[in-house]
Amino acid sequence: MKNFKKYLALILGAAMIFALAACGGGSSEEPAETESGGDAEVLKVVTEPTFAPFEFTEDGNEEIVGFDPDMMAAIAEDQGLTLEWVTMEFDSLIPALQSDQGDIICAGMNKLAGDRADKVDFGETYFTSNLMLLVSSDSDLSGIDAVTPDMKLASQIGTTGGDMVQAMQEEGKIAEGVVLNQWTDCYLQLKNGEVQGVIVDKPVGTEYLSEHSDIAKFAGEGFGDTEEFAFAVKKGNTELLDKLNTGLANLKANGKYDELLTKWKLSAE
Ligand code: ARG
Repeated sequence: MKNFKKYLALILGAAMIFALAACGGGSSEEPAETESGGDAEVLKVVTEPTFAPFEFTEDGNEEIVGFDPDMMAAIAEDQGLTLEWVTMEFDSLIPALQSDQGDIICAGMNKLAGDRADKVDFGETYFTSNLMLLVSSDSDLSGIDAVTPDMKLASQIGTTGGDMVQAMQEEGKIAEGVVLNQWTDCYLQLKNGEVQGVIVDKPVGTEYLSEHSDIAKFAGEGFGDTEEFAFAVKKGNTELLDKLNTGLANLKANGKYDELLTKWKLSAE
């Protein structure tokens, strides 16, 4: 009888230790759990971060900052999403979603441009813009309609500006439409006199001029179709898109959206 009680005590003790371990949960390193008890999915946001003040990096730091990361972080908090940001070239963003290399595009992407909406599903517009011509501060170019066939204009490959400079070359309006991977390269070409202008989204050119008005300026007024910036998901991912749209609507309703516009010196046009 004594042995039976001893074995019973050992078994009960082992059971209690096991129960305590199970209630204690794993280490703090374990991923958050979803309501259904699974690990929270980490959603990849793909972008091209030379597009200040929407997405950019500073002083060699790899962290992507700007209006878009702040907006998406607020949407993620509102909707219980977990995000990580992945950098790639702008013309790789849509293929990344199509090949499941990313879950969300957030890159100041104009949802009205070309056949983009045939390839991915865009959300609600979070900013509207148009294009401007950036020139050297000593240029006497009056605007986009005054460019001559001997000139070269630069913009970013795969963007509405990039498509425009290539079309202008094909139409013989300029000698060359120079399309580059990063906006910083476009600005450098202008600074070095390699090109006579850069076609860029107005708020991004404004941000550049805020620190480089000694070497560059806008020539003329805005042009091109109105751009509607929106995030995008893979075709058919309605569940995620609904969450993103709901989160954006909540930010607009609770004042967070306007707070971020002010933080990044943007004005909803
Ligand atoms: N708004 C333009 C477009 O949709 C330029 C976007 C560039 N964005 C970026 N993160 N590089 O084509």
